[in-house]
Amino acid sequence: MLRIVVLASGNGSNLQAIIDAVQNGFLEEVSIEAVLSNNENAFALERARRNNIKAICISSKNYISREDFYDSLLEELKKYEPDLIVLAGFLVNIPKNIIQYFKNKIINIHPSLIPSFCGKGFYGIRVHEKALERGVKITGATVHFVDEGIDTGEIIIQKAVKVMDTDTAKSLQERVMKEAEWEILPLAIAEFARRRVNI
Ligand code: GRF
Repeated sequence: MLRIVVLASGNGSNLQAIIDAVQNGFLEEVSIEAVLSNNENAFALERARRNNIKAICISSKNYISREDFYDSLLEELKKYEPDLIVLAGFLVNIPKNIIQYFKNKIINIHPSLIPSFCGKGFYGIRVHEKALERGVKITGATVHFVDEGIDTGEIIIQKAVKVMDTDTAKSLQERVMKEAEWEILPLAIAEFARRRVNI
């Protein structure tokens, strides 16, 4: 069994894609041990509860220092002994000690074809605004391992999506999710599970 913990800050549609893939049998031998958010109002937490998955909020607002917040995050993650941690729209920079503790066990979904439109400041709708500003004809999404840089870890899977002349940042964001993110995130988890078996 591959034990995963999903970290999400917002709507959680990528989390939903993982839940669906577990429920419809695409992801066999995978269990979502917990969903963790830094935002108590994240709909991702509600999606977890509706599917009887443990939903936890650890908000930096409840800690005096960033270090305390990160310590608490690490302690919480350790409890589930995850084989894999999935960042699915988690808007918190993961500190070095957590990356080192779970070395090669953290993956992230990014809404562009890395190395385009990634790195510091490229998150959420901004990624799509920048892609439109630059006038690219193709964009997409990437699932990659998390290392100590921003969006610099090994790429696991990517999928391209066409940009339409009529696209707004919002319409592009939605299409990239629908046509790429929701498909490649479960695929990347399956690939991780496959590599783990073959090690
Ligand atoms: C996605 O576009 C993901 O690539 C990005 O944040 C968004 C999260 O969407 N990192 P959701 O919360 O999974 O619906």
